Amino acid sequence: MDKTIELVNGVKDIHAMPSVIVKALNIMKKPTASMKELGDIVMYDQSLTIKFLALVNSAYYGFSQQISSISIALSLLGMTKVKNIIVAVAMKPMMSNAGDKELWKHSMRVASGCEYLASLTKVMDADEAFISGFVHDVGKMVLHMTNEKMYAKVVAMADEGVDIITAERKYFDSDHVKTGSLLAKRWQLPILLANVISYHHAPSLSSIPVPCNLICLVDKLVQTHYNPDSIDKDFVKTLGIDFEDLEELRKIVLQKAEVLINELS
Ligand SMILES: [Fe+2]
Ligand SMILES: [Fe+2]
Repeated sequence: MDKTIELVNGVKDIHAMPSVIVKALNIMKKPTASMKELGDIVMYDQSLTIKFLALVNSAYYGFSQQISSISIALSLLGMTKVKNIIVAVAMKPMMSNAGDKELWKHSMRVASGCEYLASLTKVMDADEAFISGFVHDVGKMVLHMTNEKMYAKVVAMADEGVDIITAERKYFDSDHVKTGSLLAKRWQLPILLANVISYHHAPSLSSIPVPCNLICLVDKLVQTHYNPDSIDKDFVKTLGIDFEDLEELRKIVLQKAEVLINELS
């Protein structure tokens, strides 16, 4: 027995997902879900409204006309994209409170990169790729909240080239994949999200390896110390991408993500 259950039980704040996310996910589950219901969530939250309009008018989506109303933004983006934006904005305080200012940014980079690569290669739905990328490291919040200083030691070890899972196990007797898997269960996240959280460091063990492989690839692409040797060349080939083009793709992914991060910060 490792310490996973003890760690997750120990961080009380994390048990309830922000209510705005719960509302958004519940609306999406209903077969009769309407744009209006989702739009109401955005409109009742002033800071969400401001960020939302700034984002839809940004270069990230590249619409030619100025969009000044939530209802027009909703009809242009579609419900799933709107839900994704709500989740990304609503999770920011929780992720930042978890002691790691970088975690939200990293999650946004992976989300945006997965969305871009999925739409380029059609290997999975781009909106699902975004949300999968966004939640992949959610288990890190538990470790941060448990002991911020100890997690800084984990990060230092990882910066020296030690595998992050190995470093986390050394200090916490668990890792962010295990704590994340337990959170996914408690939050009753959909199977796809639970899978990418559990297998983004070992995609071949997943029953749905393609999304896990995609997240694994983008996770490595957006690292500051990008190491091409760590990339699964066979998976890149299955995407129909030349390995030599990855460096260029990395630049595009990071640039796109920066626009998104700036607009939602
Ligand atoms: Fe991870
Ligand atoms: Fe990651």
